[in-house]
Amino acid sequence: MISRATSGEVEFVPMSEGDLDWVVARERELHAFPWTRGNFADSLAAGYSCWLMKAGGQAVGYAVMMLVLDEAHLLDISIDREAQGRGHGAALLGHLRAEARRHGATQFFLEVRPSNAAALSLYRSNGFEHVGRRRDYYPAADGREDAIVMRCAL
Ligand SMILES: CC(C)(COP(=O)(O)OP(=O)(O)OC[C@H]1O[C@@H](n2cnc3c(N)ncnc32)[C@H](O)[C@@H]1OP(=O)(O)O)[C@@H](O)C(=O)NCCC(=O)NCCS
Repeated sequence: MISRATSGEVEFVPMSEGDLDWVVARERELHAFPWTRGNFADSLAAGYSCWLMKAGGQAVGYAVMMLVLDEAHLLDISIDREAQGRGHGAALLGHLRAEARRHGATQFFLEVRPSNAAALSLYRSNGFEHVGRRRDYYPAADGREDAIVMRCAL
């Protein structure tokens, strides 16, 4: 599946085991509490919607989404630090929304740390609204951090 974006040719490719070295290395750089290789392998084995995003032939990001009946749940979306701030996050989220709709989902949910300004901005400007809060949901350097729950109609 290939689409055009301002930064050149962008491609969304189903993630496979062979991508996991790159994905796990980026995950460790980008997240204070990263998913393990096993988490990604389990997501692939479970048939979750797992994507690699390429721009100009180079991997720039990845995402994992779970589809359950008419709901989509975003589990991970990450853009390589070098490639951030160029609209790739928004393009990847747009691809996930299209995939979710294609599978019959009517609602898209996600959790985000209140401290994650970039992700909050990405989600807000792409139609997600704050619908709840899960207390002490995430591990944090000084204990636990709440999750903001966001929802978007598809
Ligand atoms: C969140 C993330 C995916 C955004 O990717 P990106 O390619 O930089 O996003 P875009 O360039 O499409 O920008 C999307 C919006 O975020 C905003 N943004 C990007 N970086 C930001 C920052 N550091 N602080 C505040 N806002 C920021 C942009 O201004 C843009 O807002 P707008 O749509 O209102 O103009 C990326 O920062 C990332 O991978 N972070 C680490 C992993 C992570 O936290 N993932 C989310 C939780 S799983």
